[in-house]
Amino acid sequence: MNLLTIHKVSVILFLLIYLIKTILLVANQTENLEKFKKLTKVLEMIVSASFLITGIWMLVEIGNIKSFQIIKICLVLASIPVAVIAYKKSNKVLAIVSLLMIIMSYGLAEMSRKQRAVGSNDMGLNSSDTLMVGQTVYTNYCVKCHGQDGNKGFMGALDLTLSSLDEAGVADLVANGKGNMTAFKDQLTAEQIHAVAVYVKTMKH
Ligand code: HEC
Repeated sequence: MNLLTIHKVSVILFLLIYLIKTILLVANQTENLEKFKKLTKVLEMIVSASFLITGIWMLVEIGNIKSFQIIKICLVLASIPVAVIAYKKSNKVLAIVSLLMIIMSYGLAEMSRKQRAVGSNDMGLNSSDTLMVGQTVYTNYCVKCHGQDGNKGFMGALDLTLSSLDEAGVADLVANGKGNMTAFKDQLTAEQIHAVAVYVKTMKH
């Protein structure tokens, strides 16, 4: 499981819990709402922490934040106090507003993904998603030997910024390994290997 998957699953779980809570509040099911809150308290804490931590982690890893991501983060952050007040005061309007804010930020991410899909490649990922997946894979699997910038050289790892391999060559080497370098074909999908190869090619001087 990569960060992006954990993030998506947490967001969807979070939205589901929140949606049910809002429906119960709006429908005046005070008793059921309290029961549901008690039942999902721990789950909600885990889900929202994982949703925020993976989100921030990916942003820090990727480094360049796009404008839609800033709007997304602002919407999510702004929805938190609105939601807290809504449930403290059992205010239905505020509860719906905060739910809409979260759904909107979710929709924003999906919309920008569809827009960018115009330039998608045959692996089913568009180019900026590919780089994002590639960078995540690189950070999780390659940094320990090659370093953040590709030139660390741990265990004899070659300097990636000087590599003359093409994208297919990198993908082949990552899949099958060489010398001290691990083979990754059992740990990574073809799509992830393709993405990390594309990412490695961006490290060239
Ligand atoms: C255990 C340490 C280690 C890890 C982890 C590792 N590598 Fe390597 N890598 C090496 C070593 C050692 C070599 C040199 C292999 C040889 O030629 O003998 C190498 C070589 C390479 C080369 C070839 C460079 C060239 O010009 O020939 C590429 C590309 C590469 N690694 C990419 C990656 C990517 C991408 C990942 C993550 C999926 C990764 N490596 C993970 C150790 C590692």
